[in-house]
Amino acid sequence: MFQFFSRKIFILVCLLEHVLRNGIVNGVFTRKFSKEIIKIARNNYIIISQENHQRPKHSRIMDLERWSPFFDRMGKLIPTFKNTKEAIDYCQTKIMFDHRSIIQPTVVRMFIHYERILKKEFRGNLRDFSSLFESDYSWNKSLFKFEGKVVSGIFYWHAYLYLSIISKFQRHYKPSTICEIGGGYGALARFFILNKKNFDFKRYVLIDHESSLFFAETFLRQNFSSVKFSYLCEKVDQNAEVIFCPLSKLHHLKDLKIDIIINTGSFQEMPPDWISFYLNWVDDVDASYLYSCNYFGQSIDNLGESQNFFCPEMSANWSLTYSRQNPTILWMQTQNRDFGEFFFERNHVGTKNNKNVKTIKCNQDFMDRFFKIMNTEDTKLIWDFVQITIRDLNYVPKEILFLLEKISSCPNFGKEAIKLQTQLLLQVSKTKYADLEEIFGADC
Ligand SMILES: C[S@@+](CC[C@H](N)C(=O)[O-])C[C@H]1O[C@@H](n2cnc3c(N)ncnc32)[C@H](O)[C@@H]1O
Repeated sequence: MFQFFSRKIFILVCLLEHVLRNGIVNGVFTRKFSKEIIKIARNNYIIISQENHQRPKHSRIMDLERWSPFFDRMGKLIPTFKNTKEAIDYCQTKIMFDHRSIIQPTVVRMFIHYERILKKEFRGNLRDFSSLFESDYSWNKSLFKFEGKVVSGIFYWHAYLYLSIISKFQRHYKPSTICEIGGGYGALARFFILNKKNFDFKRYVLIDHESSLFFAETFLRQNFSSVKFSYLCEKVDQNAEVIFCPLSKLHHLKDLKIDIIINTGSFQEMPPDWISFYLNWVDDVDASYLYSCNYFGQSIDNLGESQNFFCPEMSANWSLTYSRQNPTILWMQTQNRDFGEFFFERNHVGTKNNKNVKTIKCNQDFMDRFFKIMNTEDTKLIWDFVQITIRDLNYVPKEILFLLEKISSCPNFGKEAIKLQTQLLLQVSKTKYADLEEIFGADC
């Protein structure tokens, strides 16, 4: 009882302090937004999009079902932004790069828990956590001063991802190149750059469609005036600390030694063709680790923004060395979405234990066993696994559809697999996907 009241009082005091100092509506800071940065980012965007437009249609990048409408909207508005504030506010509120929300008591109430969880989970990285803070340039209405530093709800989400990635490496590890695929407006990249004195690296490469890159370039340049940025057009600038790589220039990264490839909340929203594309791409480039945090184990009747039934698909050259279902903070922020966090190492001599499964105990168990059998040639093992999963979990994870497709042409179980797949796909067709226009209105 006492604890309950003391927490309430604490939140009230924080809110009061915030209002007295800053005023909720007028925001936390007086910030200077740039007109010049918009010109630079827009110029890069225009060069690449004109180049893409001149190419024969068949050689342009594949369609992106979910993201193409966003790219079209961004493309229409990019010429109109007068300064970085307009661009940053737009991408943080109208494009679903993440779920940043307006500050309100229900959001603030959670901060104390997020702080505790992160400090407990990453006890070895307290210094890394304490030097993180939200960007002064982020959408004003999402910002809040909590225990002396500027935060937001989404700040803790990205802080979890950042801490989780760096904690997989030994202290003082110095990666040469970090490569992020689909980095949105650059929130995670900003943490790496901000904490460079703790987790040092040579360069950070952001790979994305040119429309999203426009916002990442705007946001990061606005946040860091002394970092050396480069936009990849012809060849990699070896001296650049941050490189923006549009999808059409991916081939230029071929000769780069990449330490880690990162993907968060982005593979999940790509159609299967793109998952296969990246399966081959990560095999071809000289990369050592891959970190992914994307949907995994979503029930087929609640697929959210999913555009595929399984990601990331990795070849047998990679071993899964760490996995976790639904990290606490992610779960607290999106309770109806299931996430899988994975860390892969190339050519790691892992234990590929393909033993028969008798029972699936829980979601985490499903996830761990899934990775042990997904590359097997033994179709009976897969078929048994599918049946046991459906029997033991009280929902059907979407990855079951991926496995059924895999064995659909095998002589023994193919017919049964297709029958089950058809039944489940019928269920999927009735599923409600996240509807953007419902959330943001038709003008987003
Ligand atoms: C939901 S946002 C995630 C942003 C960020 N990773 C985060 O966790 O906040 C998805 C991102 O994937 C990017 N994306 C979509 N299709 C892509 C593709 N084929 N290759 C690279 N990035 C892609 C989008 O432009 C966007 O930046």
